[in-house]
Amino acid sequence: MAGAGEEPFSPSVLGTREHWDAAYERELQTFQDIGDAGEIWFGEESMVRIITWLEKHKVPLDSSVLDIGTGNGVLLIELAKSGYMNLTGIDYSPSAIQLSEKIKEKEGMSNIKLKVEDFLTPSAELSGFDVCLDKGTFDAISLDPADAAGKRKLYVGSLSRVLKPEGFFLITSCNWTKEELLNEFREGFEILDELPTPKFCFGGRIGNSVTALVFQRKKVKPSILDKLD
Ligand SMILES: C[S@@+](CC[C@H](N)C(=O)[O-])C[C@H]1O[C@@H](n2cnc3c(N)ncnc32)[C@H](O)[C@@H]1O
Repeated sequence: MAGAGEEPFSPSVLGTREHWDAAYERELQTFQDIGDAGEIWFGEESMVRIITWLEKHKVPLDSSVLDIGTGNGVLLIELAKSGYMNLTGIDYSPSAIQLSEKIKEKEGMSNIKLKVEDFLTPSAELSGFDVCLDKGTFDAISLDPADAAGKRKLYVGSLSRVLKPEGFFLITSCNWTKEELLNEFREGFEILDELPTPKFCFGGRIGNSVTALVFQRKKVKPSILDKLD
């Protein structure tokens, strides 16, 4: 763990758009050649874990769900197969969105919405989600060689903008421990659950546990101006 004012991770290419563009460019080519959807970050079980939690907590199938940094969009495909019908995925890499569009087309899931967006500067139409999902995107942003700490703050601000009050945020990370994530999301979010996870490795850190947490956005307190209405 880093000391006060220190950056916890060394910057890495995994924190740059160029890296993800090149990676998904290659995966797009592989998909076109042999139909392989590419890397499932944290494995199939990470998707099962998320979907099981949503089902166990009876999160309605028509809830609006945003996958932040969707990559190949396979998590959204699995959610659609489980009956979720209001699904959106964003990624700042155009080649990721091209790949996810192709996979969506192959799977016949025409109702999934996919969009090139930088989550750190979300468009106005990205708002009011019941559920936000993040599998490895906050990790990638945390490795950005240019002002990772500032970008993590922007991330938390964006999340507060796009997620409804009392909406759920499910994050899977292997760069951050539970305690560190609680600290990162302390403003505006409270922890609801911790999901059981195996060991994994990412970005050169070996032997870290994967952390999977469920947060709920706190209720927005009515302002004095509301009471005057
Ligand atoms: C480790 S990959 C995980 C991809 C996907 N969530 C999965 O589980 O397969 C990180 C993803 O975050 C995306 N990403 C990183 N920074 C982003 C940002 N600021 N806005 C949107 N997407 C971002 C990358 O393009 C990449 O697709």
